[in-house]
Order: sequence, then structure tokens, then C-alpha cells
Amino acid sequence: MPAFDIQVNRKNFHDYKIVEKATPTADDLADGQILVKVDQFAFTSNNITYATVGEMVGYWNFFPVSDDWGIIPMWGFSDVVASKNENVKVGERFYGYYPMGSHLIMSPKSIKPTSFMDGIEHRQALPVIYNNYINTKTDSSYSKKGEPIQSLFRPLFTTSFLIDDFMDDNDFFGGKQIILTSASSKTAIGLAFLLAQRKGAKDLNIIGLTSAGNVDFVKDLGYYDTVLSYDQAEQIAKDQTSVIVDFSGNERVQASLQIHLGNQLVYNCLVGMVDWTQRGGKGSAAQNGKFFFAPTQAVKRNKEWGVAGFQQKLGMAWMQFTNQIGDWMTVQNTNGAEGLAGLYLPMLDGKVDPKIGHIVQL
Ligand SMILES: NC(=O)c1ccc[n+]([C@@H]2O[C@H](COP(=O)([O-])OP(=O)(O)OC[C@H]3O[C@@H](n4cnc5c(N)ncnc54)[C@H](OP(=O)(O)O)[C@@H]3O)[C@@H](O)[C@H]2O)c1
Repeated sequence: MPAFDIQVNRKNFHDYKIVEKATPTADDLADGQILVKVDQFAFTSNNITYATVGEMVGYWNFFPVSDDWGIIPMWGFSDVVASKNENVKVGERFYGYYPMGSHLIMSPKSIKPTSFMDGIEHRQALPVIYNNYINTKTDSSYSKKGEPIQSLFRPLFTTSFLIDDFMDDNDFFGGKQIILTSASSKTAIGLAFLLAQRKGAKDLNIIGLTSAGNVDFVKDLGYYDTVLSYDQAEQIAKDQTSVIVDFSGNERVQASLQIHLGNQLVYNCLVGMVDWTQRGGKGSAAQNGKFFFAPTQAVKRNKEWGVAGFQQKLGMAWMQFTNQIGDWMTVQNTNGAEGLAGLYLPMLDGKVDPKIGHIVQL
């Protein structure tokens, strides 16, 4: 197949199409631009959330197509295949945010040995964390073998790390029970892993809520003190101060937890929305909490700890976390546009085994 994108109907996420295009070449580049070929990326529910909150948060604007169709962003690796920028060379490999497709033209700016920012006009109003591309040649944490884990977990585990730190920074808002919904999701597992490490020093009861079919998997992880299916949530003690960290976004789960916990619910942290068909609208229980905005905590800690201090703490936690991923997750490769398209609907509908980490190779 030549170049392609997978485009999603912005009003009906089950409607998608593979769009083939002429393979771009150096002739398509303006001075200063580069063309990259996307080599591989991870595919998790986080990418689906980019679509389901795309209108609200602006995720469709990274790789724009039209008002009706959009391209979902993915985290992964690409190789520079043509360059009209003397500071970015053909053959260099970059980690970053790519379209669900095979090629991307970028306008590198702020080029350093370690990274550049995409300065293409339509991305300039978007959050900078998504516009940064890391050069694998100079990234001390990079290894070829580690690429799948980096694609799968770097953005997710950084969020887990920041939630754990935000909670500790606020003394868990006085909460003793920390209740994670969609406890089988990778971001929740990262958080449960970090919370479990605090247990000697802190009196915490880590509770995971998950689908009935994922209970055994989540129990076997060993990071949650208690694992319950959603319909067992009433077993959670009502007389303990509690914090919810919500990855599910399910209106019914939120409403029943809020009623069940009453004024023992001391903080409701809204992080994810994997159960996107069941989310509540404006003013609903599912929105009756505080949205977690990871960059705010990152900026705070970069100021307090310094950039190097922040990176060192995150790097330590990353090493410990990645050392145990192989105990519960297997990387599975899917190839090409057809393979990617075949994975899209199961991912959208939550029919993916949490024990598998999906990497798409183009
Ligand atoms: N705010 C931030 O900065 C930030 C950063 C990172 C991630 N997140 C969010 O955290 C969430 C988790 O992302 P992830 O990539 O870690 O997920 P993941 O590993 O792909 O999670 C898979 C799990 O999510 C649940 N799920 C997935 N699709 C579903 C569906 N259609 N309906 C119902 N349940 C579904 C199931 O868990 P259960 O059976 O356990 O419910 C499933 O095992 C996403 O919404 C993501 O956007 C937010």
C-alpha cells in the first residue's frame, strides 16, 4: 500500500475509512520542512479518548482533515525520509505524537541535539507537550528493544506518576481509601503500582473497580488491596474517607459511588473516559469532580525540583515500573493499514484483553 491515513467520522466513531494517498516526497516540502515515515505506534484506549473528547479538547486539530472527518493521534516512532532542514537529517528517528497514518510533514523549530518542536502553523495553539519530538540518537533512556514499552507507557505512566505525586502532595486530601475505576487500564495500573509503594509510610487502602471479566487479572497484579467488579461496588466501606481516581468516566458508576460514599468522598479526580458511550453530559455525576490536568503538576514539580530533579524521580519510577511489566503484559504486533483498521473497532468498543499491549507496525 502507498501512503495512507485512517480517518474517523467525528460524529460517529464506528464509521472509519482507510484513505490511500500518493506517497509524499521531498518535492512536497517547503524550505525548513521534513517528511517522516511513521514506523510504529502504540494503540490503547487513551487514543480512543483523544477521539471521544476530540471536539471538546481539540485533539482533531493536530492532524486536521475536515469538519466531518478526523485523524486520531498516536504515540510512537518515525524515521526522517526527506529533509529540507539542514539541522534534521534523513535517517534520524524521533519519538512523538503522530497521525494514525503512514507519513507526516513537519516544520521543525527549536532544534536541539535532543529534540525539536513541530512549528507547523496549525499546531501552534495546541499544548506544547504534544509538539515535542525526541531524537532517539541522544535520548539516554532510549533502546531499540525498549521502543514498544516506550510507545505504550511513556505518556500513560508519566500521568500515573503525576497523579500519585499530586495525591501525595495534597496528603491524599485526607482520604484513606483510594478507589480506581477501570483498574485494568494501563494508566490505572501504573498508579496502583506507585500507590502500593507508599503503603509502608502511608495508611492507604487501594481499591480497584473493574469489569467482571477483568477481576482475576487485576487481582493477580498484586497492587490493589481489594478488587471488585462494578456491580460489587457497594462492598466498599462507607465509613472511610475516600478518594476516587476515575479512568472510566461511566455516569452510573460515578453516581452510585457518590451516593454510596456520601460525605466520606473527599476528592473525586477525573482522569479518563474509556467508557465513552456511558459518560454523562454537562452537570452530570460523571463531571462532579476535578479534571486532572497533568501539565499543571508537572510544571509545579519542575519548578520545585528543577527539571533534572523531576526527570530523575520520574526516571527512577519508570525503571521500577518497566521492570515488572513483562509479568502481566505481552506486546502484540499488528501490521499495516488493514491490521490497524482491524484493531480499531475492538479498541473503540473496549473488547481488548488488558494483558496485551498493542503495537502497530506500518
Ligand atoms: N488526563 C490525562 O492526562 C490522561 C493521561 C493518560 C491517560 N488518560 C486516560 O486514562 C484512560 C485509560 O487509558 P489507557 O490507555 O491506560 O487504557 P487501556 O490500558 O487501553 O485500558 C483498557 C481498559 O479500559 C476499560 N475500557 C476500555 N474501553 C472501554 C469501553 N469502550 N467501555 C468500557 N470500558 C472500556 C477496560 O477496563 P475495566 O474493565 O477495568 O473497566 C479495559 O480493560 C483513558 O481514558 C485515557 O485517555 C488520561
